[in-house]
Amino acid sequence: MLLDTDIDEVLARLGTAAQGFSGARVLLAGGGGFLGRYFIEIFHRLNTDVLEKPCRIAVLDNFKVGSKVDVSVPGPDIEIHSADITADPLPEGPFDWIIHAAGIASPYYYRAYPLETLEVATAGTKRLLELANSRRARFLYFSSSEIYGDPDPAHVPTLESYRGNVATLGPRACYDEGKRVGETYCHIFHGYHGVHTNIVRPFNVFGPGMQQQDYRVMPNFASQIVNGAPLRVYGDGGQTRTFCYIVDAMVGFLLAALRGVPGEAYNIGNPRPEISMGELAARFQAVSPLPVSYQLTEYPDSYPADEPMRRCPNIEKAERQLDFSPSVDLDDGLKRFLTWAIDAYRRDG
Ligand SMILES: NC(=O)c1ccc[n+]([C@@H]2O[C@H](COP(=O)([O-])OP(=O)(O)OC[C@H]3O[C@@H](n4cnc5c(N)ncnc54)[C@H](O)[C@@H]3O)[C@@H](O)[C@H]2O)c1
Repeated sequence: MLLDTDIDEVLARLGTAAQGFSGARVLLAGGGGFLGRYFIEIFHRLNTDVLEKPCRIAVLDNFKVGSKVDVSVPGPDIEIHSADITADPLPEGPFDWIIHAAGIASPYYYRAYPLETLEVATAGTKRLLELANSRRARFLYFSSSEIYGDPDPAHVPTLESYRGNVATLGPRACYDEGKRVGETYCHIFHGYHGVHTNIVRPFNVFGPGMQQQDYRVMPNFASQIVNGAPLRVYGDGGQTRTFCYIVDAMVGFLLAALRGVPGEAYNIGNPRPEISMGELAARFQAVSPLPVSYQLTEYPDSYPADEPMRRCPNIEKAERQLDFSPSVDLDDGLKRFLTWAIDAYRRDG
């Protein structure tokens, strides 16, 4: 499913820092998702190959949207609970870390499930923070670069201190505002209860494991290539993003869990290159072993309007405090992802 070589690379890049997880008990919410499945695989491989004392992982997911794939349990060190973090009883622990990667991350799905999107980021975060507080566990919250909204160009590349330009009313508010409230919960539990919280704000992570039905731009383009269809570039194709290959992103997330300064938030992404969606389609064309064409098209109804025009992180804080340094360049990441996707999506049919 995932590439062993990518997991090897994450382990090598973490080096001895990974021993911080030795013997740890971890609750992973959202373990059925794209990022969650990497956490499962990495913790499992840490147990078999690296840690002096194995860690134990309790995975929570309601499997409602996104990946419908079975989460395989690679070993006895991992247990899976099917539960909604906004309502169902939570495992009791004890826990040393709670990693909150549950969410509804794809615009296609948060347009379809706005209330659930808001609730998992607000009520779900509060419940997991209460658990962290009662167990004295460290807390890693998956926020999003979307908390910056449509940034003022003077604030691109965007620092963590930028306050954002976000609509409370609009099709994206359920996600953007939900993530912002989730961050505020972290801030309160850190400030008033002393919970060691850290927030990561991922900037467009991509890689093997993204399902065709995910509907974010990377799996969309890969799926269109596999199906011999032109890549559909929404609007005028001028909106920009930066993309971070999964290996770099997972190293950043794990370093934030291990080394994050209490209460701090970190941009995790690759600041170069900031490219338009039209340019991204052209890059796919250049690296693809299959023929690729692309065309501009109107935004479909299934996609929430009002998308940000630019997105690019300033990662100096993560470089300084976590020793985070992304190293997989975009073309290399695209090749690795597309090679995997051609094989996996063909098998999906
Ligand atoms: N992948 C990225 O580039 C990216 C970028 C910014 C933010 N994030 C955030 O990181 C987190 C993980 O991202 P991902 O790409 O793995 O997303 P994903 O959608 O693939 O996975 C999220 C998982 O959370 C689960 N979930 C949703 N609501 C739940 C609930 N109420 N109770 C229990 N489980 C629930 C889903 O079933 C899914 O398996 C999300 O919070 C997302 O918003 C990701």
